[in-house]
Amino acid sequence: MRARSSRFNDKIALITGGTSGMGLATAHRLLAEGAHVVITGRDKTRLDAAVEELNGGDRVLAMPGDAANLADLDALTAAIQDRYGRLDVVFANAGIGAFQPYTDVTEAEFYRVVDINFKAAFFTIQKTLPLLADHAAIVINASFALHRGGPGAALYSATKAAVHNLARTLAAELAPKGIRVNSVSPGYTATPAFYAEASAEVQAAAVAAVAANRIGTADDIAAAVAFLASDEASYINGQDLTIDGGLVAATPAPMV
Ligand SMILES: NC(=O)c1ccc[n+]([C@@H]2O[C@H](COP(=O)([O-])OP(=O)(O)OC[C@H]3O[C@@H](n4cnc5c(N)ncnc54)[C@H](OP(=O)(O)O)[C@@H]3O)[C@@H](O)[C@H]2O)c1
Repeated sequence: MRARSSRFNDKIALITGGTSGMGLATAHRLLAEGAHVVITGRDKTRLDAAVEELNGGDRVLAMPGDAANLADLDALTAAIQDRYGRLDVVFANAGIGAFQPYTDVTEAEFYRVVDINFKAAFFTIQKTLPLLADHAAIVINASFALHRGGPGAALYSATKAAVHNLARTLAAELAPKGIRVNSVSPGYTATPAFYAEASAEVQAAAVAAVAANRIGTADDIAAAVAFLASDEASYINGQDLTIDGGLVAATPAPMV
């Protein structure tokens, strides 16, 4: 694949959960803009398929592993150190949707969701930090759900609020190295995860709730991640960028 612009020429980008949805779309985008991309995922078959789809030759490194498993993160960091010696971009994207009434959340479910949605981002950044170049950029995938309450989202929304708050703290702690840390908050986005979670009824309700009258695409999110990760966003730090067609800010319902 030929680079179509130089925003990420020769930059090294890690994308956790890069085999599907927004992670894969972001890998396509960064690759097209000149980056070397490292993608992760737990399923080796999906990793192989993503590598083939990305068609980036030696500019793609696929590492199997669970983003919430510290030994896997150590192996990932070692592989990136061996191959590239540094990282310029981290997109801590791996995560899951999980929705149920507050009263139904078991302790096991609590730890399952906290592990992948919060612990994974927390330790992905901590483990890869020694590789991060000065002026590197970190983007964490949060969710519009951190900005509003909604039935069934007590656990999920809290994990997404946690990762955005992590972005703010790290923006302060990593400032001496010139490393910026932001989060993105996708609205309803057409990915395999969305279609697995949302019934036809919920999908229709999602479209109706969005001022833009459509749900987002993985490419919509990839474009925003690429912007935040690029030097064009060099004065944007500790922020959450909501990419939701107006879902949070603008109700399509009449105001009176
Ligand atoms: N789709 C939406 O409407 C929406 C809205 C707001 C926020 N989000 C957030 O956006 C992010 C991406 O979601 P998506 O919709 O693009 O999902 P997706 O299409 O299901 O992709 C998720 C990716 O993460 C990987 N993954 C899941 N658990 C992992 C783990 N423990 N370790 C490593 N990789 C893991 C998956 O591969 P394996 O399963 O093979 O590991 C896959 O590559 C998530 O953080 C999600 O919470 C989604």
